[in-house]
Amino acid sequence: MKLNLTKKRRNLLLVSALAVSVTASSFLLLSPKTELIKKDFAVAENQYNQLLKTSTDLTQFPRTTNKDGSVRSTDIKDWTQGFFAGGLWYLYEYTQKPEWKAAATKWTEALEQAQFLTEHHDVGFVMYCSYGNAIKFEKDPKKIELYNKILIQSAESALTRFDPKVGLIKSWNAKKSWDNKTMWQYPVIIDNMMNLEMLCYVSKLTGNPKYKDVAISHALNTMKNHFRPDFSTYHVVDYAPDGKVLHQQTNQGYADNSTWSRGQGWAIYGFTMMYRETKDKRFLEAAQKAADFYINHPNLPKDKIPFWDFNAEQKGYKPDFDYAANKVSYIPRDASAGSLTASGLLELSTFAKDGKKYFTQAELMLKSLSGDKYLAKPGTNAGFILKHSVGSLPHKSEIDVPLIYADYYFLEALLRYQKLK
Ligand code: GLY
Repeated sequence: MKLNLTKKRRNLLLVSALAVSVTASSFLLLSPKTELIKKDFAVAENQYNQLLKTSTDLTQFPRTTNKDGSVRSTDIKDWTQGFFAGGLWYLYEYTQKPEWKAAATKWTEALEQAQFLTEHHDVGFVMYCSYGNAIKFEKDPKKIELYNKILIQSAESALTRFDPKVGLIKSWNAKKSWDNKTMWQYPVIIDNMMNLEMLCYVSKLTGNPKYKDVAISHALNTMKNHFRPDFSTYHVVDYAPDGKVLHQQTNQGYADNSTWSRGQGWAIYGFTMMYRETKDKRFLEAAQKAADFYINHPNLPKDKIPFWDFNAEQKGYKPDFDYAANKVSYIPRDASAGSLTASGLLELSTFAKDGKKYFTQAELMLKSLSGDKYLAKPGTNAGFILKHSVGSLPHKSEIDVPLIYADYYFLEALLRYQKLK
């Protein structure tokens, strides 16, 4: 073919070639970290578009999958219903695309009635992951005012479960333990640390210290009674009406003396957050010691994503539930423990003197979660982002499945990772 280009066409070609090479080189120049975050958010966008297509009933909040691979949702009374809205807000934060804001707003506002949840302690999880994120991105003053009003009521609901004589927020109403021998009167679970962030926020918002005072009292008593000397955690501590410890047991872990992985993650994340909110060094020390237990544990696999319990099937740990009937043929991992711990460790790395070690471990966790083993292939996993989490093995429930909160903390961790040098 004869190349007979006019000067104008030649210049056009040159400019196009230059543009291609600039795009290619800036693509090449993206750091591996930026690449990883970009790739993960692309997967997340794709997956959540799918989840939005199948989840259209605003009273049914996607949580996990059924045996047939379809989405299993929960109603507004559970503890996981705020995570989908929260994940949508994180997609908006990263992409700045208005369609994610619209979806996040819709799923957040669907939770309005949950501000009155007083049947269990989880109102903080539900409302702060949804409305707590919404107030960061909403610009309309009327909506911000309404969202804040809802958060204040949510904090009031949480406070209904606080008995000053015990000094903690009661997690569940009285119920029987696994061995059926114990009737828990005032059970408090380590997860409850995660409800405190909303209380700290509402004290800042209203200028009324009562919410944060409750959060501090809860965290100090949790520090005293949930940690063993090696800073591993009990899942459940049960109290008498006068605040005396009656029992230290498990509900979702392998045994009373074992360390349920997600519970350890809640402790790391929760005490780090309480240090951020109070600057009380005792909380930082607790967070670091809990984190050191986790990252140095001999049973933590090389990819840093823990088994569902650090002591599952270990000698010296005796389950109260029928383990043989509930177990699968392998010891499942819990990606939700991995993602929430990664997020907690990234924040901890900004406070601790030797913060780099927490950053490095979190980075390894995120790299594993971004690999084929855990990250869903497009169009699979019912639209959830991560595979391989465990809800509650003792309840024979949600074993090795996607879980909406694994996704939520994964996206949060990626955003924290992006902001850190
Ligand atoms: N907060 C309940 C759980 O972590 O399973």
